[in-house]
Parts: sequence; structure tokens; C-alpha cells
Amino acid sequence: MEGFPADFVWGTATAAYQIEGAVTEDGRGPSIWDTFSHTPGKIADGSTGDVADDHYHRYPEDIAIMSGLGMNAYRFSVAWPRIFPSGSGDLNQRGLDFYRRLAEACLEHGITPYATLYHWDLPQPLEDAGGWLNRDTAERFRDYAAATQRALGDVVSHWITLNEPWCSAFLGYATGVHAPGKTVGADAMRAAHHLLLAHGLATKAMREGPGGTLGITLNLTSVRAASDSAQDQEAARRMDGLSNRLFLDPLLLGRYPEDVLGNAGVTEWFEQMGDDLADIATPIDFMGVNYYSRHTFAGPEDAVFRGPTIIGPGGTGEIRDIDTGAPKTQMGWEVHPDGLIDVVRLVSDRAPSLPVYITENGAAYPDEVTAGGTVDDEDRRHFFELHLNAAREAIDQGLPLHGYFAWSLLDNFEWAFGYSRRFGIVYVDYESQRRIVKQSGHWFRDRLAGAKPGGES
Ligand code: FCB
Repeated sequence: MEGFPADFVWGTATAAYQIEGAVTEDGRGPSIWDTFSHTPGKIADGSTGDVADDHYHRYPEDIAIMSGLGMNAYRFSVAWPRIFPSGSGDLNQRGLDFYRRLAEACLEHGITPYATLYHWDLPQPLEDAGGWLNRDTAERFRDYAAATQRALGDVVSHWITLNEPWCSAFLGYATGVHAPGKTVGADAMRAAHHLLLAHGLATKAMREGPGGTLGITLNLTSVRAASDSAQDQEAARRMDGLSNRLFLDPLLLGRYPEDVLGNAGVTEWFEQMGDDLADIATPIDFMGVNYYSRHTFAGPEDAVFRGPTIIGPGGTGEIRDIDTGAPKTQMGWEVHPDGLIDVVRLVSDRAPSLPVYITENGAAYPDEVTAGGTVDDEDRRHFFELHLNAAREAIDQGLPLHGYFAWSLLDNFEWAFGYSRRFGIVYVDYESQRRIVKQSGHWFRDRLAGAKPGGES
């Protein structure tokens, strides 16, 4: 693509539960998202991922579409409950076979597979034993990651341990808007620690396996203070702490940010876990960053922080997320392309030469199929244009940005929003499972034409 290095990685991203369907096929066990989505009142439109995009059966068509768009990479996730239906114990060969078929089909089209090992679908039996609040889950993840990499290492060389541990910890165990829907308050910080430990143990174990290129994906937040006032600056510091430093510092610097633990009231427990930091900081080969929006924070109206500061039901309770008046997507997320540069810099400030990939970036807008059968998603196309300009600017500033994955290839099951939010560059008619490349997809194709050897234009 014009203005980008010739070896830049261009892909789309998806996640197993959001697209695969086939939830009882070939020995797959239940995950926390099956349980959660089947619980009345949890999903906005009452839907589930039972069928989703039927990608489990239609992956050849979907990979052919990616190839037609000129993409040279595909970030998908492996469903843990397909590999270990009860989380540990007996390995399910038919689950592995599916991801082998998928990876081989990618390679046949000149598309490099990037496999995420955990995109939120924890096997239900592990949740029944305490889920991410239980340290044992980290060890089970290590075993699953190592076994999967050993089995597929000849066809998959790029691995992402976790997707957005912030969401797993805080949306899963504090606000409860994501599976497993728990609201344990500041104890959710323990889930964050166990997730980071899971990443570290898995990375160490995978280093001893077939090797490959190993990383993790974080959802980093570009944070602004609403004003220069002390309480707004403090609000921004606390939110940068919970969203960014709580994850980046242990991973890249081998230490937890003391102020974040103190503000959450969990210093003592984390001190007892100090020995885990060496595992958590096991060197990685790249950092994946998901970027959607920038946030502007203000302190409590009465300027008194009563703490503990933790993302709980209704946010942090006292820190206010300010509407700056910028345009918003259908998610209500403000559009701020420059924040993409900020989040890459958050990584580079700590690990200057570590390659960074934007592993997700995209937007939900209401789409309609025209009488002529097209989907003219000009607002989404424009969103991508603005963010690719920012990505190019990051590279021009000397930041080590090596790739970009659009979220998402297909419209899909958007977690608690069900099918009511569409993020795809390809439209999915859920009744017929027909795919229609949207205008934004055609725009990528036109710009990527010629980027991939053998790529169609
Ligand atoms: C991210 C998730 C992804 C998708 C996008 C919109 O937080 O990783 O699965 O839902 O948001």
C-alpha cells in the first residue's frame, strides 16, 4: 500500500466464538460464552453464537474473500474448548484438525496465519473451578497453549497468547457485562494477575516447543485529562494506570505500577505474588495493540477520590468519561485517529525496538444492503482511511509499527450486543449466510492491489 513498507503485514481479525458457530460439533465442549449467551437478559438481542457466521464450515469461502481483497495475513482465534473440551485432560484431535485445515487453506492463498490462543472462550469446567480468579487456570492455559503449538507449529508460526486481558478481567469479573458475568469488585485484579501469569507461563512453554513468533494483544487506551486541574490529572493517571500500565509494566518492565495497586487496595495480595513477575516478563517478539478510541477523563464532581479505583459496575464510580463532541461510531466510541499513534508509543516508550502490530481497529455503523445489492459503508471506509493515515504517520515518526489488522473480516456476534452491531468489511446476511464485500472492503482491495505476490486486484 502506498506509503507503507513493502513487508508491512495486512490482515483482518476475527475470534472463534464470534464467527465459527458449530458449537457442539467435532467434540467441542461448552465455554463461558455459551453459558452466558444462553442466559436470558445478558445479550442485547437475545442471540447466541450457536451459528454465528458458520465460519466452521464456510472458512474456504471466507479465506478466498480475504485473498481477493489482497490481504497477506489472517488473525483468527483458536477455541480452547475445541482442543480441550473440559479445559484440561484429554486432547480433542478433531478440534486441532479444524485449525490445521484453516491454517493450510490460508497458506495456500499466501496468507500468513496469526493464531490467538485465548479470545475469551474459557472452557466452562474451568470457570466452575473459579475461572480466572483461580491461579490453576493459568497453568491449564500453559498446557493448552503448549499442546496446541506443538500440534500446529508446522503450519502456524505467529502466536498471540491472550486477547485483551483487561476485558477478561474487568468486564468478566467486575462489571459483569461479559462472560462469566461476575461482579467481585477489586478481586477482579486477581483475575488480571492470573491472566498475565497465564501469558508468561505459556510463552515460556512455547519457547521450548517448535518456536515461532510470540506475542500478546492488549487493548490500550489513549488517555487525556479533561483539564489541567489536579483532580482531572489524577483521574487520567488512574485510568492510564488501570487500562495501560497495569498490563504494560509487568509485561515489558517486570514490575507492577505501585500506584495502581494502591488505588485499588490490593497491594498486599500482589506483594505475595511478586515471584510471578519473572514469568510474566518472559521476553516476547511483538506486541499486539487493539485500538478503537481515545478517552478524556475528569475527576469526581466534588474532587474527592474515595477509591478503591477499579472498573466496576458503572465504571469506576467516580471518574467521569467526558464527551468531547468528536464524531462517534454506533458503539458510542469517539473517533480519534491520532490516539493510534499514542498507543503505539506507550509500547515503544517501554520497549523501544519491540515490533508492534495493530491487531484490531475498526468501527460499527448501521449497514444496509441497497436495491442493487451493494453495501455503501462510506463512514466505515472513511474511518479506515483516517486510521491508516495515522498508522503511516506513526511509521514516519520512527515507531516500529509492522502490521495492521482490520476488525473485522465479517459482521459477527459482537459479544453483549449480539448481532446488533456490524464491524465487518464483508456484510453477512445471517439468514442465508451470504457474504457481500462492503465498499470499505473494496477500498482495501483497491489500495492493496499488487501488495501481495499473486494477489488479485
Ligand atoms: C474488541 C474485541 C473484539 C471485538 C471488538 C469490537 O474489544 O477484542 O472481539 O468485539 O472489540
